[in-house]
Amino acid sequence: MKSSGSDGISHSTSTSVFVTGATGFVGAAVVRALVAAGHRVAALVRSPERARLLPAGVHPVIGDMLRPETYRDAAAAADAVVHTAQVRVQGRVTKRKLARLAAANDVMTAELARVCGDNGSRLVYTSGCFGYGDRGTDLITEDTPLDPSPLGAAHARQVARLRDMRANEGLDVVILHLGFVYGAGGTFKNVFYDQARRGRLRCIGAGANYWSLVHVDDAAAAYVAAVERAPAGAEYNVVDDEPITLRAFVDELTTALGKGRAGNVPRALAALAAGPPAVASLTSSYRVGNSRLRTQLGWRPRHPRVSDGLPAVVAEMRRPAARQENVKAA
Ligand SMILES: NC(=O)c1ccc[n+]([C@@H]2O[C@H](COP(=O)([O-])OP(=O)(O)OC[C@H]3O[C@@H](n4cnc5c(N)ncnc54)[C@H](OP(=O)(O)O)[C@@H]3O)[C@@H](O)[C@H]2O)c1
Repeated sequence: MKSSGSDGISHSTSTSVFVTGATGFVGAAVVRALVAAGHRVAALVRSPERARLLPAGVHPVIGDMLRPETYRDAAAAADAVVHTAQVRVQGRVTKRKLARLAAANDVMTAELARVCGDNGSRLVYTSGCFGYGDRGTDLITEDTPLDPSPLGAAHARQVARLRDMRANEGLDVVILHLGFVYGAGGTFKNVFYDQARRGRLRCIGAGANYWSLVHVDDAAAAYVAAVERAPAGAEYNVVDDEPITLRAFVDELTTALGKGRAGNVPRALAALAAGPPAVASLTSSYRVGNSRLRTQLGWRPRHPRVSDGLPAVVAEMRRPAARQENVKAA
């Protein structure tokens, strides 16, 4: 239930929240954090089997991003909607796969925004820092114009639409621009951890480009803050305190794993395996600041630097039981 404080920011006791992508890397952490904060959660899942992955007490809604009739009512019944669903892209990233991903996100975001607009309820939208594009060593804030790298293009288009709906229709939207999220699962596991464990990780190019990362639990805490106390229309970069170069990130990971230093691979060669859109994005430089999230919402990352969070993540992923859970959730 929402109430408005003297600061004009809505504060919550227990809010009903509908989460999409609840079995994903980010969404599952968001669901856990919302439940821990005392909120009532309904979650979109693709099948009864996937529903078994939800924490106790979370109400499953079986549906599909591409079929709005499967989640319209659940979104309408909630005080707030958190959108983290995304079509899974396997293997080499191609323009065609990205177009499929973008099309599904277009359908779902349009529907969720329409429902939230009709209801006067909050939509928390997940974007990513690839939306800012390659900014060299400049510090990126939420006021930096969007000029996306290929992997950020779909989100950047939605952000533009949602800003427009905020300005013209008063949509209560909060946009989170996530840095690269690390934790026991997700893209971090597939692209970095698994390769490093097998001794196959390579740094693409020289690795002098900046990355801005965030631990998955710190990201989840930002969603809770966004649901509970962000002003309508606000946008936040969700990144830890210390952007590091891609080379430094790769080195942190191999060190945490007790492996030798990973070699470099030329961009063109990496593009053959990973796809040009992925390589163009992974080699872009995004050095992102989090001061708005800190000052406006009082968010503090429990893992201010990658070096604070990575060793425990690696230890967790090495446990055999954790590996099984990750397989189930992937
Ligand atoms: N991970 C990062 O580093 C990062 C960084 C910046 C931004 N983001 C953004 O954060 C969001 C979540 O990313 P993620 O890494 O958590 O992705 P993810 O692990 O791949 O999770 C995707 C979620 O969407 C669900 N989904 C896939 N296709 C669906 C469909 N047709 N209908 C309904 N649900 C469907 C998946 O369900 P199943 O579990 O059943 O497959 C899963 O719950 C994305 O918008 C992503 O761009 C992520």
